[in-house]
Amino acid sequence: MKDAVKAAFAELSGRAGELRAKPISGLFEQAPQRLDQLVIEGAGLRLDLSKQMLDVTIVNALVDIAEMAGVPAARAAMVRGDEVNRTEHRAVLHMALRASAGYPHADAVHEALERVQLLADDVRAGRRTGSTGRPFTDIVNIGIGGSHLGPALACDALRYAGGEHLRAHFLANVDGGELDRILAGLDPATTLFIVASKSFTTVETRLNATSARRWLTATLGEADAVASHFVAVSSRPERAVEFGIAEANVFPMWDWVGGRYSMWSAIGLPIALALGMPVFRALLAGAAAMDEHFVATPLVRNMPVMLALTGLWNCHVLGAETYAVVPYDDRLRYLPDYLQQLEMESNGKRVGLDDALLDHHTAPITWGGLGTNAQHAFFQLLHQGTRLVPVDFICALSHPVAPREHHDMLLANCFAQAEALMRGRSFGDSAPDAAGVDLALHRQSPGNRPSSMLTMETLDAHTLGALIALYEHKTFVQSVVWNINAFDQWGVELGKELASGILEEITGRQAPAPHDPSTAALISRYRAARG
Ligand code: F6P
Repeated sequence: MKDAVKAAFAELSGRAGELRAKPISGLFEQAPQRLDQLVIEGAGLRLDLSKQMLDVTIVNALVDIAEMAGVPAARAAMVRGDEVNRTEHRAVLHMALRASAGYPHADAVHEALERVQLLADDVRAGRRTGSTGRPFTDIVNIGIGGSHLGPALACDALRYAGGEHLRAHFLANVDGGELDRILAGLDPATTLFIVASKSFTTVETRLNATSARRWLTATLGEADAVASHFVAVSSRPERAVEFGIAEANVFPMWDWVGGRYSMWSAIGLPIALALGMPVFRALLAGAAAMDEHFVATPLVRNMPVMLALTGLWNCHVLGAETYAVVPYDDRLRYLPDYLQQLEMESNGKRVGLDDALLDHHTAPITWGGLGTNAQHAFFQLLHQGTRLVPVDFICALSHPVAPREHHDMLLANCFAQAEALMRGRSFGDSAPDAAGVDLALHRQSPGNRPSSMLTMETLDAHTLGALIALYEHKTFVQSVVWNINAFDQWGVELGKELASGILEEITGRQAPAPHDPSTAALISRYRAARG
């Protein structure tokens, strides 16, 4: 953080004491315009920040902080295609992937989308078939992290869109149990594999692709099975070709798209295949609508900016160490996982853009789960625990198939939880039960626990695109305030390197290397167990 930003947060901390002492619900009485002031609409979403522990003075101070931190300039630099990812010397242009105009690389993006459309249309129409001439019934995306979570989320969330479906499966983990579970139900003759890897070096993806190829050719033979049943998406097409995938079947990715921001590129191929290109294009349009809002709306009415600033207020001033994402919609069950990668891989950093160690926290822990299940699991802690855990509630006002009484009850619970967290409840000084146990404090909920409520009329491809883009921009804005690079991920390297060495030792291809006693014992126990 720049010194001025740090000083501004320190100054705000004084105000926090005052606010904490008052119930959030009382702030509505003090300021009749509160709801209007703290509700922001855009791109089909409505964000209600009025149950957060802040008021308009705080909001204005936070907006000043965003200005001071250089959010508008950083946003402009990203749009221009400057080298925003300075540790990898790359531009950051995921917005170009869904833009109709005005961004660099428009021709390459357009051409890639045309190719995605051609394949999706041909496969869905049965014009492109497997090597035996039978149409494809199943697709298996082999990829991990950013090459998995976005398409998996979208295919699941939009399951009621797109008419006739190809079944989409996602093979991410190197755990052979996952491979077995997914392949067990499939027919090689009607299965299309997509090997999705920006780098095409990710070991999990390469091993899964090798095993899938073996499974396929065991039944269909070597000849044209791989040519007909494997496509790839990569920024290193030569590596995919070297792996054995025909050049014409390799779709492009680019260095200027980060893996966790890449579902809008050909990495979204499973979405186009499983749900159809119109659905994929609507997803892109929804994200583009949020981009336009983000780029053009004044900071104080700017949804991603205000979501980011509220998160910063909760962490840096109110002391929250985590925040929970709780969608009340089964279609968003993968959203917490998706946001975990987006926010924690982007902003889990300890070094600033000045190449020096930071002296403040960065990303809080993102976690969450589905309502109402979560109410019967972790909500106890949210209501009565000792830690402050702000919540992002997310819901859609309608549902394509849910019976009315289910949706009524679902949303009643969603609204009730947000209200209960804010209001709390007291049982007076003393409330002894029949046996004399004083339950007053046990039953009390202190309230004053902040939450945001994100709603949309319907959850469809457009609003899902907008929702994901909202959190992408939120993540970026927070990174600017923290003065960190949201687009690298050096921290994942060490574990990968050690794993490759340990694998060599486990398999006996390499002599035991020096390890700490705990790791050495684990390796030797496993070597003994595997025989
Ligand atoms: O976990 C590190 C990471 O590089 C992610 O950032 C990325 O999304 C994932 O691995 C997969 O990488 P690739 O698409 O290159 O296989």
